[in-house]
Amino acid sequence: MPHRVVVTRRIPGAGLDRLGDLQTVVLGEEPPSREDLLATVRGASGILSTVTERIDAGVMDAAGPSLRVVANMAVGYDNVDVAAATDRGVVVTNTPGVLDETTADTAFLLLMAAARRLGEAERLVRSGRWRGWGPEQLTGPDVWGKTLGIVGFGRIGQAVARRALGFGMRVLYTSRSRREEAERELGARRVELEELLRESDFVSLHVPLTPETRHLIGERELSLMKPAAVLVNTARGPVVDEAALAAALARGRIFAAGLDVYEREPEVHPALLGLENVVLAPHIGSASIETRSRMAVLAAENLLAALSGQRPPNPVNPEVLGRLPLD
Ligand code: NAP
Ligand code: GLV
Repeated sequence: MPHRVVVTRRIPGAGLDRLGDLQTVVLGEEPPSREDLLATVRGASGILSTVTERIDAGVMDAAGPSLRVVANMAVGYDNVDVAAATDRGVVVTNTPGVLDETTADTAFLLLMAAARRLGEAERLVRSGRWRGWGPEQLTGPDVWGKTLGIVGFGRIGQAVARRALGFGMRVLYTSRSRREEAERELGARRVELEELLRESDFVSLHVPLTPETRHLIGERELSLMKPAAVLVNTARGPVVDEAALAAALARGRIFAAGLDVYEREPEVHPALLGLENVVLAPHIGSASIETRSRMAVLAAENLLAALSGQRPPNPVNPEVLGRLPLD
C-alpha cells in the first residue's frame, strides 16, 4: 500500500511531481476549513502543509498513529505544534535556505516603497486626481547612505544586509548570538535592540515567531525609533503589536511602515487599512515563481525522506528521527 499523503493547498507542480506514486490528496486553492482538514488527514502518513494551516495535536490525532511527518512548505513553522509532534514521534520539517534571496528582495521592496510612498503615489495616479509633477509632491526620505537595523541576523537578515551594501547603507543588527563572519563580510555591527531602534533610519524584522519574539516591537519600542524611521516586517505578524503600530503611524510617531505579515492573517488591523503611510502586502515574501517551486520540491523531498525512514534534509525536531520506523 503506498503511503497516504495530504497536501493541504495546491502547490507548484514540481513539488507534486516529486511525490510520485504516493496516494496523494490535494486540498483546494483556498485554505481548507478545520473540519475538512480533520476529515481528510484520517489515516495519513504524511501532511505537506503551508503557513495557513494550524497543524496542532488535534490534526495529528485526527491523522492517527500512521502519521510520521509534517512537511511545512515554509521556513517558519510557528503554525505547527512541534512539541505535540515530538510527543507523537512525528518529524516536522521546513524549507530553509531556498527562499532567502526572494524574501530579502521583498523586504527591500517594502522598505523602498514605504520610504518613497509608492502605495500613495499609485493610488493618486489611479484616482485620476494627479495634476502633474510637483516640487514637494510625495517626497520621502532617501534610502541610500542611511542606517539599516536588522532584527534577527540569520539567513534572510543577512541577505537583506547584502542588498543594503549596494545602497551604501550602514548595517546594525541584533540577534542572540554574534555572527562574526557576517560582521566581517558585511561590515555589520551587533548592538542591543534599544540602540538599534534609536540609531536606525530603517528597521527590518527577520526573527522567527517564538514566545520571546511575540510583540518584540510594541509601543515602547516604536517610541524609541526616529520620527523619520521606517519599519519593515516580513517576519511574522505577531512580532509587532499591530494596534500600537497603527497608533504610531497615525500620530506620525514614525514615518512609515511596510508590512507583508499580520497578527491575524488574512485579517488586517482596520486602523492600518485607513492609513496612507503603510504599504500592505499579502504575505508574498517568498512569492517568486522559482522560489515557490523550490519550496514545494524541498517540502516534498523532506516528506519522502521521512516516509522512507531516511534523514530528511531539514528536520526541525531531529530528536524523533531515531524513532521513525523504516520502510
Ligand atoms: P534564521 O536563519 O533562523 O534567522 C533567524 C534569526 O533570528 C537568527 O539570526 C536568530 O539568531 C534570530 N533570533 C531568534 N530569536 C531571536 C530573539 N529572541 N531575539 C533576537 N534574535 C533572534 O531564519 P530565516 O530563514 O532568516 O527566517 C526568519 C523568519 O522569516 C522565519 O522564521 C519566518 O517566520 C520569516 N519568513 C517570512 C517570509 C514571508 O513570506 N514573509 C518568508 C520567509 C521567512 P539567534 O538564534 O542567534 O538569536
Ligand atoms: C513564509 O512565511 C515562510 O516562513 O517561509
